This record gives sequence, structure tokens and C-alpha cells, in this order.
Amino acid sequence: MTDSLKLEAKNRIDYLREQLAYHSKLYYEKDAPEISDYEYDMMFEELKRLEAEHPEFDDPASPTHKVGGRALEKFAPVPHKVRMGSLQDVFDYGEVEAFVDRCKKVLFEEGESEVYFTVEPKIDGLSVSLQYENGRFTVGATRGDGLTGENVTDNIATIMSIPETIEVEGELCVRGEVFMARKVFHALNREKEEKGEKLWANPRNAAAGSLRQLDSKITAERKLDIFVFNHQYGEIYVDGDTPLTHSESVSQLGALGFPVISIYGVVKSAEEIISLIEKLGELRPKLEYDIDGVVIKIDSLRQREIMGENTSTPKWAVAYKFPPEQKETVLRDITLQVGRTGVLTPTAELEPVKIAGSTVSRATLHNIDIIRERDIRIGDTVVLQKAGDIIPEIVASVPSKRDGSQVPYVFPEKCPSCGEALVFDDSPEDFEEGSGAVRCINAACPAQLERRLIHFASKGSMDIEGMGPKVITLLLESGLIASVADIYTLKKEDIAALPRMGELSAENLIKAIEGSKKRGGARLLFALGVRHTGESASEAVISRVGSVDALFEAPVERLLEIEDIGEVTARSITEFFALPETAEIIEKLKVAGVETASVGGATESTDKLSGLTFVLTGKFPTMSRDEATALVKANGGKVTGSVSKKTSIVVAGEDAGSKLTKANELGIKVISEEELLEMIGK
Ligand code: IVH
Repeated sequence: MTDSLKLEAKNRIDYLREQLAYHSKLYYEKDAPEISDYEYDMMFEELKRLEAEHPEFDDPASPTHKVGGRALEKFAPVPHKVRMGSLQDVFDYGEVEAFVDRCKKVLFEEGESEVYFTVEPKIDGLSVSLQYENGRFTVGATRGDGLTGENVTDNIATIMSIPETIEVEGELCVRGEVFMARKVFHALNREKEEKGEKLWANPRNAAAGSLRQLDSKITAERKLDIFVFNHQYGEIYVDGDTPLTHSESVSQLGALGFPVISIYGVVKSAEEIISLIEKLGELRPKLEYDIDGVVIKIDSLRQREIMGENTSTPKWAVAYKFPPEQKETVLRDITLQVGRTGVLTPTAELEPVKIAGSTVSRATLHNIDIIRERDIRIGDTVVLQKAGDIIPEIVASVPSKRDGSQVPYVFPEKCPSCGEALVFDDSPEDFEEGSGAVRCINAACPAQLERRLIHFASKGSMDIEGMGPKVITLLLESGLIASVADIYTLKKEDIAALPRMGELSAENLIKAIEGSKKRGGARLLFALGVRHTGESASEAVISRVGSVDALFEAPVERLLEIEDIGEVTARSITEFFALPETAEIIEKLKVAGVETASVGGATESTDKLSGLTFVLTGKFPTMSRDEATALVKANGGKVTGSVSKKTSIVVAGEDAGSKLTKANELGIKVISEEELLEMIGK
């Protein structure tokens, strides 16, 4: 192999590793994927193949050496007594046949005369283990990395179909998949939409996010469900029988009161397996829950022992993954959506088509390069793909169906909203916008303004309840607001006079606006929508510089000293604060009484926490860490940086890390921000 080919392979391997790590983080840790599982699997398979062809580029840190997710530290770790492995994926019938042949070869050589396989749906949810001691449910844990999971017992206990007690002596541990039924998912997403909140991409992410809530009351509202499909360890004796096969063990689990998968078959040949896969594929859209494939397992538990295991997958089972559903339709037009940072996203306007259970008439084209690379022309017949409930996308055009009337898409040179010249960016600094980003750099662009206002008022930002996208459009159209600062000069009478708004909604909106003034500097910085400056960067910056005002004076070097703040964010912030319009807006916000510094500073002092030493860790729902520190101190408490026996209380927020683990190990009391506020009578 020539050096240049080797280099090409190495580059591709590096690229795939980076992409997989990025998407895996979004999937497992943030529960917010940007690509379909199928795309992920395809990249994963390609990486595996390239690594096999080039063992010289092997790296123990490669995503191919890991099992699924990593245990997050916001929950206490649970070591799994029996490893929670995963399944080897297969993507075509040839691989299913190869699996069957492999099993038969090994088992026949060992003197077995026949092999039965169970074929059951692969539930698209979140893998968990349930531990019972003397018949009582004691611990529920996520899979994590297979060896250590997260303790989510309280959250799992909210699942109605899990038996609290079972008739089994001693220890029993079972494994299952937590999921959210489609109906529940759609209803909850509709509620989110009404509130202007970010929607879940699919039921699986909704389930994962719900299971990892620190507050189990929220989990309870999410109405999760579970199917138990594996017996991990411990004895199950129902009517005195020890199960000899998987199907027997599942029916015993069912008899004990666990919800089990009832649709499965037990067959002998690859042909029969494939026919069951096809049947399950037909059934898929009619099921109440999402399935993403079919699991094929050797039924006999003794034969499974003979087959054995690989490092993290058993040799006695495989998961056949369904390809995403694809349909052909006609691309009527391409429109452009202007985002709040000015990036234009081309959107395909399609002849409506029914796919994976819903009618689709729009699909994202991501960026200009994709239109070019896939040679997508207006009027083309295109292949639309939808995996689960992930946003549909166009995977290809069908050139053979062209009749000459199709026209290549010409990207406009001017912004469709404001008419200013667009900037074509071929070398974006980050992944976020992908390559081929096209941007409108006019800060006064109306479309950008609308998106910025929506972001400003949304939940993670200033959280102005009742000011969702529709209300913002109404306020803009009526000329009542033209910048985020104008939100704070709105009058009740003006709002009440708007169509579909009454006295009561106007009064509530004014109250919500008033309440939003106290969110503090970090939330305000995030709400301003500075490019490359997300929630955690805003937190980090404000906790160091003290207030939004201080950013007018902060040079790039100062921002670079802050942990987790890189060059791109630092420059973006300084550029934003160098704009005259930024100064004008901040001034107006301050005049209106919007808090630009730490909220903690404005706290009254008491001695309610005197004598107590606190450690604060993680992200809190309403305060920055600096604000919380100021609050504790103002109420007589002491705040230190590390957990030791001298620590009285650890206040843990979202994504709390090793400090929380240490607190749990030392048995130190852990409370939430809400409980801290309660302690000081707020
Ligand atoms: S059996 C040793 N059966 O799919 C693995 N898994 O990587 C035993 N899953 O996270 C798993 N439906 O949680 C099995 N009917 C089913 C399943 C199933 C979904 C999940 C499992 C695991 C993933 C496979």
C-alpha cells in the first residue's frame, strides 16, 4: 500500500473516531442526537473495517473499543455483578445466515443435535438492570459502560409496570429496556411545543432524558414503561422449575409479574428467522413502542454456555438492525431558514409522503455542500429517509427519473429576509455549523432578530413564560418590539390589544417579563445568543468576570484564562461586546432593571447556615455557582472546594461530577438547589 493511501485511511479513521465520539456524547450524555442511529452505525462499521485493515492505527481509545455510554457522575455508581454486555449488530440477511451457520458449526461439533433460536423485537429504549433482594425491588441501574451504571432506583421505581415485590427468595437481578410509548412521547412533545421548549428527537431520547432526571417527580410524569428480557443472576424458581431455555426463563419472569415481550418466535433455520424478521418489520409501525431491530438468540441456556462470549458481546446472539425507511418523492422547492446566528439552512419542500408513520412535506438539507454533493435539483425525484422519529433527510436524488425540467439550485447571493449580501464560509471553525455554512452577517436582519428573540425568551435563557414563538412573531409584526431590550418596555394595554391576547394573558406576560429580570448575568449572556457561547460557557464566563458589563472590558486573553473557554468562544464574545449595538442593548436592559451581575450579590443576610461547610457541584437550575456561593456565605455558611469528612452538605446540580461521588462514598448529605433555598427560607 502506498504511503498516500495509508495517509488517506489514517485521516478517515481519525475523522470517524472524532465524529463517533462527538455523536456518542450527544446520544449517551446529552440525550440529544443529531444523526440517526443508522448513520451512526454505518460510520461505526466503516471504522471497524478500516481498523481491521490497518491494525497499525489501532488505538485503545477508539470508540470501537467501548461499550455504549459512560456512567454519568450525577448519579451514584452501581457496579454490575454480571457485566451488562451489548449485542453484535448485523445489517443484512447474509450476516444473519452467517451467524446461524457459526452457531450450528460450533454446537454440532460439540455433539449437539439441534439448535433453536428465539427471534424477538429489539426495543429502542434504555438498558437497565433491576435488583431484588428477598422479593423487594432494591436497586435500579442504567447500563453505563457495562461494568458500572448509574443508580436511578427512585426513577425506575416510578414505572408502574415494575413489580415492587416478587415471590423470590435471595437475590435476583433482571435486565430490561426502559422506553416511552409513542403516544406518551407525542403528547409530551406537543406540550413542549406549546411552551416553546426544545422537542425530543425520538421516544428513546425522551426515555433516556426522563430516566436521568435528578427529580423523580419529573420522571413519574413521563410515564415510562419497561420490558424485561433477560435474567442476569439469582435463582428463579416458579413452580419448582429451573428454566433450561431463554423462552422458559422469560415466561417465568412474566409469571413473577414482570412485563415481558410477548411477540417472539422460536425457530430452527436462517430462513425461518428471516421470515420472522420480515413479519416484525411489517408489524413495526403498528406497535405502541419503537423497535429498531430484531434480536436473535440461541434459546438453550446450556448451548449459550458452550458458545461463550467475546469481550463485551455474547457469541450466542446478534441484533439485526432495520434499515431506515426510505421513500421516493418530488422536491418542489428549496427554501432557506435563517437561524439566530445568521446561518442559512436549506430546507427541502416536498410532495407530501407518508414515511415511518407520519406525513412529511419538509426535510433538512443541512448545508449547501450536501445539495452539491448529492446533486439535488429542484423538481428531482429524491429519496427521503426517516429513522425512528429523527428529522427526515434527503439521502439522494434519482437522476434516472429526470425529464429535463429539473433545475440545479442556485444559492442566492442575498439574504432572503433582509436582502444583504451573504457570506460563504468554506472553513468553519467548528463542527456545529458543518462545512459549507452560508451566513447573513447583517445584525439587523429581521429573520435573525426573530430567532434571537425566540431564543432570548426561551426556557434555558430568560425563561419568559407565555412568550413563545407565536407571541414573539405577533409582537414583532405589531411593531411593539424591535430588540430584546424592548421586551422590558412592553405595556399591559399594548399586549392586551393584540389579536388573540386578552387582559389576563397580558397581565401574566407582564408578570413573567418582570420575573425574568432576576435570572442573573450567566443566563442573560446565554440569552443574548452570542455565537459559540452555550449555557455552560456563559456560566463559566460570568462566574469569573462577575457580570455581563465586565465583558465590555475583558480582552480575549482574560477570557482564555477561564477553564473550558477556547479561542473560538473567547473571540466571539469579545467581538460581540465590541459592537456598538451590544452596548446600547445592555444599557437599555439595565435601565429596565434586568440583572446583569450575579443574583447572589443582592441577597439579604441571615445566620441560618452558620456552622455548616458546603461544597457546591454541578449546574444549578436557577443560580450560577458564584451566586450560590454568595448566597451560602450571606447566610452564614462556609463554602469550600473539595469534599472531605469536614464537609457538612454537598449541594449537587446537573452533571455533578466526582465531588458527588465522593460525597456518596463518605455518606455526606447531598441536597439540591431547591433544598438549599428551603434551608434559608426562600
Ligand atoms: S438481549 C447480552 N433482547 O439492545 C445482551 N437486548 O446492544 C443481552 N435490547 O442495550 C441483551 N431489546 O438493552 C436483548 N429483546 C432484546 C432487546 C435488547 C433491546 C437492547 C439491550 C442492549 C441493546 C443491544
